[in-house]
Amino acid sequence: MTQSLTLRRPDDWHLHLRDGAMLQAVLPETARHFARAIIMPNLVPPVVTGDQAAAYRDRILRALPDGMSFEPLMTLYLTEDTDPQDVATAHASGLIKAVKLYPAGATTNSASGVRDFDKVRAVLEKMAEVGVPLCLHGEVTDAKIDIFDREAVFIDRVLDPIRRETPGLRVVMEHITTSNGVDYVRANDADLGATITTHHLIINRNHILVGGIKPHYYCLPVAKREEHRLALLNAATSGDGRFFLGTDSAPHTDDNKEMACGCAGCFTATNTMSLLAEMFERQDALDKLEGFTSLHGPAFYRLPVNQDTITLTKGEVVEYPAKIDTEDGPVTVFDPGFPLHWRVS
Ligand code: NCD
Ligand code: ZN
Repeated sequence: MTQSLTLRRPDDWHLHLRDGAMLQAVLPETARHFARAIIMPNLVPPVVTGDQAAAYRDRILRALPDGMSFEPLMTLYLTEDTDPQDVATAHASGLIKAVKLYPAGATTNSASGVRDFDKVRAVLEKMAEVGVPLCLHGEVTDAKIDIFDREAVFIDRVLDPIRRETPGLRVVMEHITTSNGVDYVRANDADLGATITTHHLIINRNHILVGGIKPHYYCLPVAKREEHRLALLNAATSGDGRFFLGTDSAPHTDDNKEMACGCAGCFTATNTMSLLAEMFERQDALDKLEGFTSLHGPAFYRLPVNQDTITLTKGEVVEYPAKIDTEDGPVTVFDPGFPLHWRVS
């Protein structure tokens, strides 16, 4: 039985760091174990231009505690007014690694997102030409579509047309939550990848709703049926290089989660590596963990893999703090509902 596992240092290909006091509090939670992360641009106001991304990157690096190393991989928030040349320039300088498309209204701070996909066609074409990946929040916002079906409908109505109309565009379906997402990726080529979160490998929709409403399990896209969780687990542990970790760790203070209209987001930065080791071990797939956390993402983004390593060891139950304190208030750490035995040493 494996009791110790050494991996190349992992990267997080979808992370919310926020800004100000929240950034200060949550950044060490990621930087402790992760070398790099794709930083989501859904601040208020969003990170739309190269200049804004450069300024945000500086704020992240200033918030990093002495002695920690971490590289933020910046993204731009795609709007209907985004200038293709600004994207190309920010990419050519190495500043940004991707552009994020939120359908307007799909999730937290997505009001400035895209309503009319024809209006971003020129940007997408430029991205295909110069090789900037598109990160997609894959849910339609049509009020007539049931929230549990929004990912599957997005694939047919938006994703498949975009890919057919923009050959060469490399696309990451962010935080897939359904077997439809898994199947769509598997049926396509290496220009399409998908991130999978830690929490969607662990919870299904019952966890949110059975026995009382659990706001800390509410995130977007919302967790689906058990059969979908199993499809995600199968994809993550399969060794298929098109699937890689994007935690979507999304901190909100308890005040903003535990209310009549609570915010969407699970905060998993703190305990993600222990959670993943536990889940991969249960699937008898610990040998696939390094690919998922440390190799497939760099390959998709055409970046070098990390040279340093982390070691996970199995032993006594590992305790993580229930909450992270921030100047804005406490943030609850994702509780899987089962004990964790793998610690990062
Ligand atoms: C994210 C957030 O809080 O910014 N929330 C979430 O539930 N995942 C936004 C997002 O990635 O959809
Ligand atoms: Zn997210």
